[in-house]
Amino acid sequence: MRNTTTLILGFLVVVSLAVIGAMNHQLGISKKEADQAPIITETPTEQVAGVVHNPPSLDDVPDGPLGEAILRGYELTNDTSTVLRSEASSVEDGMARVNELSCTSCHAGAGMDEEVSSLVGMASVYPMYIGRSGQIVTLEERINGCMVRSMNGQKFAEDDEDLDAMVAYLTYISQGIPVGAELPWRHQSDMKDVPVPNIADGEVLYQQSCIACHADNGTGTGSNTGPALWGDGSFNDGAGIARMSKMAGYIQNNMPIGAAGTLTDQEASDLAAFILSQERPEWKNHDKDWPAGDRPSDIMNKEKRDQIKDGTIDWNEVLGKN
Ligand code: HEC
Ligand code: HEC
Repeated sequence: MRNTTTLILGFLVVVSLAVIGAMNHQLGISKKEADQAPIITETPTEQVAGVVHNPPSLDDVPDGPLGEAILRGYELTNDTSTVLRSEASSVEDGMARVNELSCTSCHAGAGMDEEVSSLVGMASVYPMYIGRSGQIVTLEERINGCMVRSMNGQKFAEDDEDLDAMVAYLTYISQGIPVGAELPWRHQSDMKDVPVPNIADGEVLYQQSCIACHADNGTGTGSNTGPALWGDGSFNDGAGIARMSKMAGYIQNNMPIGAAGTLTDQEASDLAAFILSQERPEWKNHDKDWPAGDRPSDIMNKEKRDQIKDGTIDWNEVLGKN
């Protein structure tokens, strides 16, 4: 009996050693591949299957008018509110022009952070059909869509040089990405099956994990250090992130900074519901969105905020569980 056990154990050891050996061999191969990596990154689209997130450095923008436009576009994307408000003719005009956020508030690193709603490749995928608009949308129109919703401000005029600058910047960081490519980093912050939230739990968690950067009243500490999550300085309820699925997905993938990915689906849903139950600017054109149908049920507009207050909200209906 003892001998049999020893035999079996011995056999297992041999098998394990063989497996480890095989793994080492595999590692050896990938090590070799890793050694060749610099060659691969130089011409990513030719040698690697699929597209690579590898935006060029801002140090390499060309001299002259195009380079200037790209850098202006970067400033506008990274520090939207500061730039546009400081150049407005009056404080009131500046506040009407744009809220307190920047594109970086949601698209980290001016859209160059692969993990946080990256904007790399946008110049290669637009124009495209958008259900919310019910039509083909150009990159210019998509930027303006964020200006009036996420930025709760005004559109750039069609001939505004700042709009050209933003397109120049987004085109620059899309370099090397083929037209119409599938971008693996796209649409990552969308929770498919959002659990029914508990807002009181969300508030407790918010006080524990979020106020250091976003302040206890949600007004934030700065567009790129902890942007406004609700109130006058934040996005309006026509923004994509005003939907439970997008907010819960974004929080779970990216927050709290430094510990991203640690919140459960339930916690992310609780936090999203708490944040989206707070007052924020209203989007006036909800009735014009989704003209071809398929309007999502999880847009947290004024009607839903009021239902939360008077306790009549039907979360199963909002979250499409019926
Ligand atoms: C409050 C958050 C927020 C802010 C601020 C914001 N966006 Fe967005 N943006 C989003 C969300 C959410 C989406 C939808 C992402 C998705 O569909 O997965 C989006 C989508 C986009 C898209 C389309 C992405 C795609 O894959 O089709 C572009 C382009 C874009 N934003 C540009 C901008 C620009 C430029 C600014 C600044 C002027 C800006 N955004 C500010 C949240 C924001
Ligand atoms: C260490 C600071 C820090 C902490 C803690 C933190 N955030 Fe953020 N948050 C940021 C920054 C900075 C951004 C801008 C995007 C980026 O840089 O990734 C952001 C962006 C956001 C956004 C999108 C922008 C907006 O205005 O809506 C949401 C939503 C958000 N955070 C929610 C949360 C929640 C919920 C928590 C707590 C679980 C949290 N954050 C904790 C710093 C922080």
